[in-house]
Amino acid sequence: MSDDPLPFLDGPWRLSMGLRRLEPDDWLRVDDAHDAQMRLRDRLLAERRAEVAAALPGSEAGCAETLALLLEFLPERFPERWTRDGQVMVDRRNGRRVALDGEPPLVIAGRLVQEDLCLMRKGPDGYELSAAVLCFPSHWRLAEKLGRPMAGIHAPVPAFGERLGPTVDRFMAGLDADRPVWRVNWSITETDELFLPGDRAQRAFDPAEPVGSGLFLRLERQTLRRLPQSGDILFTIHTSVRPLGDAIVRPDHAAALAARIREMPERMSRYKGFHLMGMPLLAWLDRLAAAQVRVAAPG
Ligand code: HEM
Repeated sequence: MSDDPLPFLDGPWRLSMGLRRLEPDDWLRVDDAHDAQMRLRDRLLAERRAEVAAALPGSEAGCAETLALLLEFLPERFPERWTRDGQVMVDRRNGRRVALDGEPPLVIAGRLVQEDLCLMRKGPDGYELSAAVLCFPSHWRLAEKLGRPMAGIHAPVPAFGERLGPTVDRFMAGLDADRPVWRVNWSITETDELFLPGDRAQRAFDPAEPVGSGLFLRLERQTLRRLPQSGDILFTIHTSVRPLGDAIVRPDHAAALAARIREMPERMSRYKGFHLMGMPLLAWLDRLAAAQVRVAAPG
């Protein structure tokens, strides 16, 4: 797991860009879930290609540039793992081989990293999703977002248009190739499955189920960088999922998460599915948080 601080520790909750400067070395990550995630990516690309990979005409240069960047970055950043053998990339840790020909460049790129790769290309209404390898969507479908600008992509996110839309568009227009950024989205899910193209489960969380093992913290570490040659923007999403009981062990972390959930406006809370799991989840967090009070209180 990464050492990044949990993204909900600082409050109060607000809808924000939350962008931070990205150290170029820290662009893409390899974590404990690497091998399992790569196996799943290969399987999805074989069995459900149309759902997880797509490219519109005009995205060719950006797709090729993305693959070229990975071929440079991976052996340099992870020399113990990645090495190139002619037209094959070899993962020395597990012997997996990825051919560098025979498939569209972005699909090859999507077999090399845990990150989902979304290419944004300038269009009449700002940046539009022009190509992607998206194996781990968090309740969205690539086919429904392809070709759409940022406002359209984010239409289901409550208040995004009014509160963030213009700022995000300005940011995308001005993004400098030398100043990549990152941000985190977090959610609580009822499953640890990574490929979640459908809507959020509509069933309420069963209060009889243990919260610590029945709910999961899903973190999406996202990066944005402009590709210097094509001018496109590459958006990457590294997804990690772990049982809530493993992710939240400290009382102050439980208190912070409970506070963020309570601070959320009703529409956002529904969007994130808290109306379905809120009560058992909050009761569990409150119990965990109370441990701190007992420790802190004298006697
Ligand atoms: C500065 C850049 C961006 C910001 C600030 C931003 C912000 C957000 C936020 C706050 C959410 C709601 C997630 C949640 O809280 O659960 C969201 C959802 C989402 N974002 Fe972004 N985002 C950015 C860039 C992008 C890009 C480049 C894409 C391209 C694919 C994208 C695709 C999505 C999608 C598909 C969703 C889910 C929407 C749905 O529910 O249908 N975002 N984003």
